[in-house]
Order: sequence, then C-alpha cells, then structure tokens
Amino acid sequence: LGLQWGDEGKGKVVDVLTPQYQVVARFQGGPNAGHTLVFEGRKHVLHTVPSGIFRATAKNLIGNGVVIDPIVLQRELAALTEQGIQAAERLMISQKAHLIVPTHRLLDAASEKAKGKNKIGSTLKGIGPAYMDKTGRNGLRMGDTLHPDFKEKYQALKTKHLHLLEAYGQEWQQELPAEESKWFEALDSLRNIPLVNGEYFIHRCFEQDKRILAEGAQGSLLDIDFGTYPYVTSSNTTCAGACTGLGLPPSAIGNVIGIFKAYCTRVGSGPFPTELHDATGEHLREKGKEFGSTTGRPRRCGWLDLPALKFACMINGVSELIMMKADVLADLASVKVCTAYLIDGKETAELPYQFEAHTLEPIYREMEGWNNLEKVNLFKDLPQALQQYIRLIEEYVQVPVTLVSTGPGREQTLFR
Ligand code: GDP
Ligand code: IMO
Ligand code: MG
Repeated sequence: LGLQWGDEGKGKVVDVLTPQYQVVARFQGGPNAGHTLVFEGRKHVLHTVPSGIFRATAKNLIGNGVVIDPIVLQRELAALTEQGIQAAERLMISQKAHLIVPTHRLLDAASEKAKGKNKIGSTLKGIGPAYMDKTGRNGLRMGDTLHPDFKEKYQALKTKHLHLLEAYGQEWQQELPAEESKWFEALDSLRNIPLVNGEYFIHRCFEQDKRILAEGAQGSLLDIDFGTYPYVTSSNTTCAGACTGLGLPPSAIGNVIGIFKAYCTRVGSGPFPTELHDATGEHLREKGKEFGSTTGRPRRCGWLDLPALKFACMINGVSELIMMKADVLADLASVKVCTAYLIDGKETAELPYQFEAHTLEPIYREMEGWNNLEKVNLFKDLPQALQQYIRLIEEYVQVPVTLVSTGPGREQTLFR
C-alpha cells in the first residue's frame, strides 16, 4: 500500500517481492495508476496489470475492485507481448471488475471543467464517473460482456451519459464514434485473458496456503473516506479495500506493508502541508524525476510529513514500512521532517477534518544530511545520518522499516 499521495514506488516493491508470493492481485483503482518497474536497463510502466507480471512464478489477478479501460489494458498487453511476455498465461480478470466506457472519460473532463479552479486535478481516465456508476448500480462489469444483451446495456448507459454531458454543456459528438469503435475492438482483443470468479480463485489459493500479495494503487491520503477529501480518488486505497476489492476476509490479512518516500509528493490539487515552493522543491523534482507516470505532470514536492505518515499507518494497521528514494535526499547539507502542525496557533500531531479551513504551519525538525548512496549495498552500511533519520521515523510511527530503496532498479533494494 502507498502511505502518501501515490507514486511512492509500489510497482518497484511489488516486482521485488513477487518471488516470495504465488499470487499478485490489484484490488482497486484503474488506469489513473502508473506503476514503474526498472530492470535489465529497461523501464516498464503498468496501469491496470499487477506488477507481478514480469515474474513467471506468479499468477496475477485484476480484482473486482478495479475499474478497467479496455483501450489502456490492450496497450499494456501489447507492450508486454513485445517483450516476449504472453500475459494470458499469467493474468486473470475478475468478472466482477467494472468497465470504464468512453463517455466516463468525457464526463470526467466535463466535471473537472465545471469545477474551475476547484478542480480535483483528476488524471481524466474516467475513474470517478466509473465508480459513480458502480455505486449507483448502473455500471457494466467484465462478466456482462459475455451476455447477448451487453450492447443494449452499453447503449442505455451511454444514453444516460449523453444527457449528463448535455447538462454540462459539453461537446461530445466529434470524438465519440471513433473512441467507441476503438473501445469495442479493444474489448474484443481481451477475450484470450481468462475471466474468472476472482473471489473463489482467491479463496482456493488461500486454502492451498498460497501466498497472496495484494497490490494497492494510489495512496492512503487519496482514499475516498480517509484522504484529503474532496481532493482524493474514488476508491478505498487503504487496507480495507483489499477485502472488498478481492473478496478476502479481514482475518486473511497478514502483513500490511506500507510504502513511503523519504519525502512527499503530490500530483493534482489539494492540501500538502510540507510542500516546498523553493529551489529545494525544484531540486527534489529534478533529482527524483518527479513527473507523473500516467500524465507526465510535474509532481509537487516537499519534506516528509510524519503526522500524515502515522495517520496512514493507523488506518491501515501497517506492520512493516518500506522507505523509497532515500537517494534523492542524499547530498543535502540537512533535511527537514515535519513532526507536528501548528493549526490556528495550536500545536497538534492530528490531521484536521479539512486542511483548507485553517491556518496551518508545519513544525519541522532539522536533521543532518547524508552522502550519496550509490556504493551502499547493505542496510547496515547506510550512512549514520540516514540511519538516524530511519530511527526517528520508526520511533514516531512505531512501525519498523524493513527495506530501504536507493534507486529505481530492482537491485537497488536493501533488505534489513
Ligand atoms: P507507484 O505509482 O507507487 O508504483 O510509483 P511510480 O512508479 O509512479 O513512481 C515512482 C518513481 O520512482 C518511478 O519512476 C520509479 O522508477 C522510481 N523509483 C522507485 N524507487 C526509487 C528509489 O529508491 N530511488 C529513485 N531515485 N527512484 C525510485
Ligand atoms: P499510483 O497508483 C498519484 C490523483 C490525481 C488527482 C486525484 C484524483 O501511480 O500511485 P483520479 O484520476 O483518480 O480521479 O484523480 O488523485 N491520483 C494519483 N496521484 N498516483 C496515482 O496512482 C494517482 N491516481 C490518482 O492526480 O489528484
Ligand atoms: Mg504512480
């Protein structure tokens, strides 16, 4: 799970951990996600496909909680085929996963436009409208595509969407027909990927003592219930989402692995208490290559926010922490970490109901910086100043850091 605002490095971690598991399953989100893996000198970006796909030993499941855009998925599968990976042999889709239709994307854009300066900063992949149709009980599911009345159901949903687009005063006639034919073709091309009853599959794996890795998308602070609402995504990105998004009973959850960056980033609108608007922020963006994997937008950058990290650990019941991108903070004379907020003049370590309603100032602790990590191969050889930084985090959130990532590559991973 990501513990911040997404892009913590979940894809890399899942790829690194997959050899310890027999099943990797995505449980929520959709192509708003961009999970980057780097190995053998190549970069791979996944949006819908679980990040276990590059390892022959694991089965990958796109769970019922995910929303699928067939056009994006088809593109991902084509890229995998190009690399010699026949995804159909290791990938399955839950028949209960919902579909993103072309008009969902148009509605996403119309809604953002109507919000003006209050826009969410959505990735415009149709996520919000698709989940609205799911909870509104109008959605189309992967399993529906097998039934003779699918086209009728599609038309009914599209008609509803066109009324909504009209209400928004949105132009749609031009682009829609071409998008629709692309969408139906893409859906057709997915026929060779097994459509399964995901919850029975997961249950059987569990009975057979297979190890299952549930891969989160986005981050805890983008959770629909516990994130910085309304600047969030439309799914439960937190641990409970793995239960509803896969059909796992809560008692089946073992380790909860929380992933965070050594600093913070956010893409899109919304509160970000430790955001840096200065040269240091720019430095982190450049050095950390903080540009969205899905939209290419520059990510906002700032110092690590410990009250927010502790909140995410609390909501998820995180049992171990993985720290990413420690290398990006290297070579700074000192680093800062937020340990509390001054909210309307009062010090607190709790997140407010709504950040915007208050004057808020982060309270920082300044710590010694560390040198370049290029030559460090063992956790115990990490510079003292970084070890101290890790200790501060562990003491603050009361969860151990079990792995530190020092670069994008698979091998730049230091287990404790
Ligand atoms: P995700 O959405 O959580 O999977 O994260 P993204 O892939 O969107 O963003 C993380 C970015 O950081 C990717 O470009 C990764 O290749 C890169 N990355 C991951 N771990 C590290 C690290 O330890 N150091 C550096 N410098 N880059 C990393
Ligand atoms: P991964 O899985 C970072 C952000 C968007 C926007 C808000 C709502 O790669 O970490 P949406 O498209 O869901 O309606 O956008 O959430 N967002 C992400 N930010 N990483 C992601 O995914 C994100 N998915 C959505 O920028 O602010
Ligand atoms: Mg990402």
